[in-house]
Amino acid sequence: MKGALLVIDDEKNIRETLAKLLEEEGYYVKTAESIESSKKLIQSEYFHAVLLDIWLPDGDGLSLLSYIKTYLPDTSVIIITGHGKVEHAVKAIKEGAYDFLEKPFSMERLFLTVDRAVQEVLRKRATKSEEDELIGSSKPMMELKQIIEKIAKTNINVLLIGESGTGKELVARKIHELSERSQAPFVDINCASLPEDLIEAELFGYEKGAFTSAFARKQGKLELAHGGTLFLDEIGDMSLKAQAKLLRVLETKKFTRLGGTQTVYSEFRLICASNKDLRKEIKKGNFREDLYYRISAFIISLPPLRERGEDIILLAEHFLDKFSKEYKKPKKHLTEEAKALLMAYPWKGNVRELKNFIERLVILHTGEEIKAQDIKNLLGFLPAENYDALFEQKDLKTAKQEFEKLFLKRKLKEYNYDLKKVSQVINLDLSNLYRKIKQYNIQIEGG
Ligand SMILES: Nc1ncnc2c1ncn2[C@@H]1O[C@H](COP(=O)(O)OP(=O)(O)OP(=O)(O)O)[C@@H](O)[C@H]1O
Ligand SMILES: [Mg+2]
Repeated sequence: MKGALLVIDDEKNIRETLAKLLEEEGYYVKTAESIESSKKLIQSEYFHAVLLDIWLPDGDGLSLLSYIKTYLPDTSVIIITGHGKVEHAVKAIKEGAYDFLEKPFSMERLFLTVDRAVQEVLRKRATKSEEDELIGSSKPMMELKQIIEKIAKTNINVLLIGESGTGKELVARKIHELSERSQAPFVDINCASLPEDLIEAELFGYEKGAFTSAFARKQGKLELAHGGTLFLDEIGDMSLKAQAKLLRVLETKKFTRLGGTQTVYSEFRLICASNKDLRKEIKKGNFREDLYYRISAFIISLPPLRERGEDIILLAEHFLDKFSKEYKKPKKHLTEEAKALLMAYPWKGNVRELKNFIERLVILHTGEEIKAQDIKNLLGFLPAENYDALFEQKDLKTAKQEFEKLFLKRKLKEYNYDLKKVSQVINLDLSNLYRKIKQYNIQIEGG
């Protein structure tokens, strides 16, 4: 997927045509016909770019602009205006819109504008994540930092393996930053999110006319990475055909764009990442062994968060500071019991899960002290290793209530907050279920 887009236009035909064209181009597209329906989508989904018609039945499209900026601060807004109404667009750009399209516009213009708008967002987000420091003082993390320092200055190909959310991309960016290539581009491509033919177009680029929607020459990521670092994320998901082509490029450092004959040279440092076991994929016939040896000259394996206990607290405190600042909340700290709970939790989604959890905590929590109870409320259930905490209650009544709350939270989450369904499954009538949700102040969580 090239990016997620929201198309807002009251004219059904225009809306649907734009959506169709952009979908064909490889975007994920949602549409809305009014201010009200747009707001719902903006609240609940992420979009890289929004195409916004100024004229909407229930109000001025411009009023949506500040709403979009609040919910999706990084998102690029492209204003669509009627012929000769450019002054509106100029006003919108002053108020933070990214660009405008004046009707009628060509497909070429549409694709170009949308592509630039999405690239802009990706760039903003990439520089944001570059600010991220590699946090950790556990033995494996200290060793990792040393290794990164040592190999950054070399040109050796690196393969990063580790569970989802362990920091593979962050480490790849660090290696680039510390290398002599740091001023040249860091170009990344996620092989898992792209269909087979799109991967080739993305990697190798194409000439005008190479396929029906190739309206202009496009440089591929291999070319863009010249002098810098190419990061191939989730390489285990690359098709065998693309693997074969990639192998040839690694051997010869040259290739041609799709539909082209001219030879393109590119010199880059290659870093790959995978959360699949590539050796197993080789056995299954899904991954080329010769490619594996090319990309894995140096293997770094990132340990899961649960195996580096002390880092959990360090990271939690780091994210607490970061998000408290971001959300303009008072500086918060964790009680010892709260820390113990965080340490006991398995963190299957590793650092990403912890980071998202702390962000939610900061948004919902008031005050400065984060207690064990605040953590429990939000985690929804006690970590398996820590059922003991249930037994710390002094009296039976509190213990029963504590369990009842955890039980209900878990069931609600399991059935996606379908109250009727839950009421049937746990055999408790609906009015009682409502009462208990209120009594325990159970919150509905996303995801
Ligand atoms: N040691 C760390 N210090 C600070 N932040 C970290 C650390 N490790 C990971 N993170 C943060 O956790 C999130 C997930 O990391 P990252 O995207 O690098 O994981 P990944 O291994 O590439 O995951 P996936 O396999 O799902 O793509 C990012 O926001 C990253 O900044
Ligand atoms: Mg990643």
